[in-house]
Amino acid sequence: MNEQTTDAAVKADIEAEARVREYYEVNTRLFLRFGFERETMTIHRAVWAKGIWHRRDALNYTNQLALDAMREGIGDGPAEVIDLGCGVGGSLLYYAGRTPENWRGVGVTISPSQARTAMRNAVARRFHHRLKFIEASYLDLPVPPGFDAAVAIESLIHASDLGQALREAARVLRPGGRLVVIDDFLLFPPPADATPWWRGFRGYWHANSPRSVDDFAALAASAGLRLIERRDLTSNLRLIWLPKWLANAMLRVGLALPRSLPLVESQVGGLALQTGYLDGWLEYAFLVFEKAGGDAPEAALQPAGQAAQK
Ligand SMILES: C[S@@+](CC[C@H](N)C(=O)[O-])C[C@H]1O[C@@H](n2cnc3c(N)ncnc32)[C@H](O)[C@@H]1O
Repeated sequence: MNEQTTDAAVKADIEAEARVREYYEVNTRLFLRFGFERETMTIHRAVWAKGIWHRRDALNYTNQLALDAMREGIGDGPAEVIDLGCGVGGSLLYYAGRTPENWRGVGVTISPSQARTAMRNAVARRFHHRLKFIEASYLDLPVPPGFDAAVAIESLIHASDLGQALREAARVLRPGGRLVVIDDFLLFPPPADATPWWRGFRGYWHANSPRSVDDFAALAASAGLRLIERRDLTSNLRLIWLPKWLANAMLRVGLALPRSLPLVESQVGGLALQTGYLDGWLEYAFLVFEKAGGDAPEAALQPAGQAAQK
């Protein structure tokens, strides 16, 4: 890349990140007010796995999956955990409530108001001595290496430079540390008639780095993170099926509305996301990576493509 292309790429990254920041600055309060997420303080999908009957448990399902995967790597010892794209702190608050005092966490969000709300939540629940929330980008983490685990729930899809985000995650993890990712992934190729839906997903959901699990894992591998577990959670999402004509009409109306109106982007993006699942070009997956250099169990030492499918 010559200097001009590099400058243009950096500028595009900065602009994409600014749009994501703005999106969460405008919408977070509304998500918490209308999304029934005040109790869990999560801004992510409810997963209705077998045996889950309450929305609170469905919202905490991915938190618990991530906690189990991190614990498996950390054992009973003290732990430093970093949440890359922490929202208003739901995941770290959940871990703090279920781990000993020697588990500590740092949450990073691009949205300053989310960082403030998360910190207030930590104070209200008396976890402020164990949890810290900061406004920062996961592309350039203002923390030294040494974390035992990192978690990223529905946040890396927004990365303007996914390779850089994964390199930063790898940098801050100690050898053998784990990265848990739960997010939307592409099932290639998205059908051609998905184009307006694709636009809704890419543009309105701020899906800046849509990848298949295999591509994501290859990028992670080049950052030094090996995929050791993958699980498809798509069948546990509750999707609202709409006749195609109605979904198309709703999308057309949504795309015609001013994007600056609160909830327009999230509703259009959410509609596109649902269509992606129903039409089979998206999957919601849980991935666990391990940084080389720890006492990895044998099962962890296989190529990314052969990672354990549960
Ligand atoms: C859908 S929310 C998920 C929040 C949280 N992980 C949860 O599950 O409740 C996406 C989060 O990613 C964060 N995010 C997006 N881009 C980011 C970046 N470049 N650096 C840090 N955080 C980012 C947003 O600020 C937001 O907190």
